[in-house]
Amino acid sequence: MDIEQPRQGLGCMRLRDGAEPGLDRDPSAVIGSALDHGVTFLDTADMYGNEALVGRAIRGRRDEVLLCSKFGVIWGEGGSWSVRADAAYVREACEASLRRLGVDVIDLYYLHHRSDETPIEETVTAMAALVDDGKVRALGLSNVTEEDLRRAHDVHPISAVQEEWSLVQRGFEAMVPAVAELGVIAVAHSPTGHGLLHSPQVDEATDPTDARLRTALADIAARHDVTPGQVALAWVHHRSQTWGLPVVPLPGTTSVRHLRANIAAADLTLSTADLALLDALGPGTVGGPAYPRAGG
Ligand SMILES: NC(=O)c1ccc[n+]([C@@H]2O[C@H](COP(=O)([O-])OP(=O)(O)OC[C@H]3O[C@@H](n4cnc5c(N)ncnc54)[C@H](OP(=O)(O)O)[C@@H]3O)[C@@H](O)[C@H]2O)c1
Repeated sequence: MDIEQPRQGLGCMRLRDGAEPGLDRDPSAVIGSALDHGVTFLDTADMYGNEALVGRAIRGRRDEVLLCSKFGVIWGEGGSWSVRADAAYVREACEASLRRLGVDVIDLYYLHHRSDETPIEETVTAMAALVDDGKVRALGLSNVTEEDLRRAHDVHPISAVQEEWSLVQRGFEAMVPAVAELGVIAVAHSPTGHGLLHSPQVDEATDPTDARLRTALADIAARHDVTPGQVALAWVHHRSQTWGLPVVPLPGTTSVRHLRANIAAADLTLSTADLALLDALGPGTVGGPAYPRAGG
């Protein structure tokens, strides 16, 4: 099965229990408000440690949700991590996620990160068996190479590739033509550079390329009467027309107020001049290294 293309998702990575119920930071209210506004593409992962929270928040509304989770990245000591993607682990991880989420099926199940040890054919064959068993509806990959994608797609159709894509992290663009050719949805995670583009302040310490980007965002935002972060998110939405493929931005937030601002950004139309200005600016350094990435 394939998934219907959503307009924008909600990244649930930062949602944690502990906020006061009913207030702006209540994770159930964030997820409930997303669903109320038609943002039904919810993204979590076993490594985020919050599948049970997400499962509780969607209880009673499961049919509205396109529920996405990921497996394969395992925390070690002191913040280190490793990847497991062998066939036995794929099934074990999926069953554990289903239990924590409290659902019968995950709509989109991703390999969270490529493995240097397990051939991707083994991983995807095991993932395809989960589709056959009705535990998963569609398959996705994250933090992979173009070659990984092509080899995986030969085993079973891949519905979505999730990679970091924003004005400060554009490395994914090298494999976008292959993603388009294979008819795969590009899910753009961390579309505001992990939040950096929501507060584009410039001071004398700012790298000159970053300063130009931040100034441009602030100027465009003022013209449209929106925030710089909304412009940065709208730029990711416009990647769809620029590259000719389905792009689903995946902003993350722990605030109902921020969620609403991010939803509004999906309707922001940037002019050709706005886009030309932003496209011409290099990614600069504010994005830092992508996370998590092969090799570190
Ligand atoms: N596949 C992968 O390897 C991978 C890696 C990283 C992330 N992801 C996915 O991508 C999602 C988003 O990633 P991310 O959270 O790192 O990046 P992001 O969406 O670019 O930025 C999130 C940050 O921006 C802030 N923010 C969000 N909306 C805001 C607004 N309207 N105004 C001001 N601040 C705002 C958030 O704080 P508040 O909570 O205060 O709003 C948070 O600190 C994750 O939830 C996860 O699902 C995937």
